[in-house]
Amino acid sequence: MPLENRVIVVATNNEHKLREIREILIGFEILPAKEFVKDFKPNEAGNSFCENALIKARALKKYVDYPVLADDSGLEVFSLNGEPGIYSSRYSAEGTDRANVEKLLNRLKGKKDRSARFVCCMVLIVGERVIQKEGYVHGRIIYAPRGNNGFGYDPVFIPDGFELTFAEMEPSLKNKLSHRRKALEKIKAELEAMDV
Ligand code: IMP
Repeated sequence: MPLENRVIVVATNNEHKLREIREILIGFEILPAKEFVKDFKPNEAGNSFCENALIKARALKKYVDYPVLADDSGLEVFSLNGEPGIYSSRYSAEGTDRANVEKLLNRLKGKKDRSARFVCCMVLIVGERVIQKEGYVHGRIIYAPRGNNGFGYDPVFIPDGFELTFAEMEPSLKNKLSHRRKALEKIKAELEAMDV
């Protein structure tokens, strides 16, 4: 399947995400949504990460003939029945990273099971084809934040097999282990199978 000049437009303007995607989808020109749409802010009203990723991808595809890629991600804590889930970025009233982490630590008080996972759903639309892939990283939530790198819940999340939080790790190591990376690797395999 020919991909138009190997260009992919991503439903984000987040530089961090764009860099991560460029590192993995080598050989593709990765363009941000803002090059095609002013103020791209689709209403993420879905009930799952994949529904939200699909909403973003479909919204962008209306403006773009190139293939489009969209993602949605967040944290799921098992003893909290999957909270904060799709509400990860707006878990607390303030909605800041700090307040979200504080709320999470409070909700976990007294819980023995602190296991959690980051989830990412990526959706690629190429012509009529819709490809949806998920990536996970399992770990646990610690009792107080540690580290200054990363964002969101990184300071309280230790991935299985490690002793450092995501916020204490070198960003290059976190990016190798991340849920986004895993979803993106699966998307890359699909692109390769399309023989582009
Ligand atoms: P989005 O996919 O960029 O909308 O991410 C939603 C929210 O999930 C973020 O605001 C963070 O709170 C959380 N999140 C997603 N990925 C990560 C990560 O890699 N580290 C820490 N928090 C994350």
